[in-house]
Amino acid sequence: MSSDELYQLACNADKEDRLAPFRDRFYKPDPDLVYLDGNSLGRLLLKTSDQLAEMAHDQWGEKLIESWNQHWYDMPLRLGNKIAPLIGASEGEVIMADNTSTNLYKLAHGALRFQAGRTKVVSDTLNFPTDLYILQGILKDAGPQYELVLAGTKDDIHPDLEELDQLIDNNTALVVLSLVTFKSGYLYDLEKITRLAHTRGALILWDLSHAAGAVPVGLNEAGADLAVGCSYKYLNGGPGSPAFLYVREDLRPKIHSPVQGWFGEENPFRFGLQYTAACSVRKYLSGTPPILSLGATEPGIDILAEAGLENLRNKSVRQSEYLLKLLHEKLVPLGFSPGSPENSDRRGSHVAIRHPRAYQICQALIHPEPGNPRIIPDFRDPDIIRVGITPLYTTYTELYIAVSRIRDIMQNKVYLKFPEERKTVT
Ligand SMILES: Cc1ncc(COP(=O)(O)O)c(C=O)c1O
Repeated sequence: MSSDELYQLACNADKEDRLAPFRDRFYKPDPDLVYLDGNSLGRLLLKTSDQLAEMAHDQWGEKLIESWNQHWYDMPLRLGNKIAPLIGASEGEVIMADNTSTNLYKLAHGALRFQAGRTKVVSDTLNFPTDLYILQGILKDAGPQYELVLAGTKDDIHPDLEELDQLIDNNTALVVLSLVTFKSGYLYDLEKITRLAHTRGALILWDLSHAAGAVPVGLNEAGADLAVGCSYKYLNGGPGSPAFLYVREDLRPKIHSPVQGWFGEENPFRFGLQYTAACSVRKYLSGTPPILSLGATEPGIDILAEAGLENLRNKSVRQSEYLLKLLHEKLVPLGFSPGSPENSDRRGSHVAIRHPRAYQICQALIHPEPGNPRIIPDFRDPDIIRVGITPLYTTYTELYIAVSRIRDIMQNKVYLKFPEERKTVT
């Protein structure tokens, strides 16, 4: 296809896009900025700004401590109940708390204690490092008989499912996987892998950070045991916004948090000296929730429900397929290669584009010479330009512009103007 035809495809798709009006609900001080990093930090919703101002002035400023009863105390559970339908969970199974790492610690620790006698935890080499670090810490404290084993990958895109199958055995206490892997965007078959874990007597804990709000997730339908995830990516909750956790209802009496803070206590304001865990999912709270950050997540959760996850997924798949087409036709001849599954059923909502000079190319995209658009993707070590597709605000034309600009940067060797040395946050 010629460049003109590919561009026309994008223009037509944007015109037909029923989700297009949602783009106007986001703050866009530079209307020409192409932001392809919503899978790392979602854009700011206009409503979130208002909500933060209202919480600061009305709730904190005017009502002061009265707001705990009126607005704040129930907020972690109330927002958890709003996230629940987005991940296929039921009311009372999800709560917002802490960050993903801490939630993973609490649930993995609780799961290992429940599965006493089994000493193996299984994950994969595509998992986000914090998950592995947290597990390593838990297992170090649990004793030398405990081990973490990782299924590998043959192509850095797909996990080795045969190896995963072999590793999960009758000594496996817990399987911990990211439903959508952070680099390649591989999307696990939630039901199949949950069933595999269960047939060997293992529990499964899914990290939904790259899945929540991006792909339909059916935790209850799959019988999944535990899950965690962040709210600053597709949920547009803002930098460092609190995470969420899910515990299947029947497991709640069996899985205990090792962080027995007062917000998870049955009656925190009785100030008893002996801890009794709350009966509800509130038992997984630790200390005082970060109320302003928590409140800022609500508009991002609401807008996903309003747009409808099926609609968002359909657009995300169409956009990823369009991007892969551009990649094959325009970038592969210049030495780039796809770093994500080609099969849409097994891909989340981002596409990895690989090139040995990826870091410098990303810098050239972010810091353009005058007259060129500014484009913000993600760089992921060692060679990935990660393009996040956020159907609430990503347009087809933006994808076309991004690929054209990458071509230009390659063909005119613009990337050579940028050092190979990485900044602290990439
Ligand atoms: C899959 C996954 N898990 C966990 C995290 C880290 O979560 P947190 O910083 O909330 O602990 C990230 C961060 O990007 C992630 O992508």
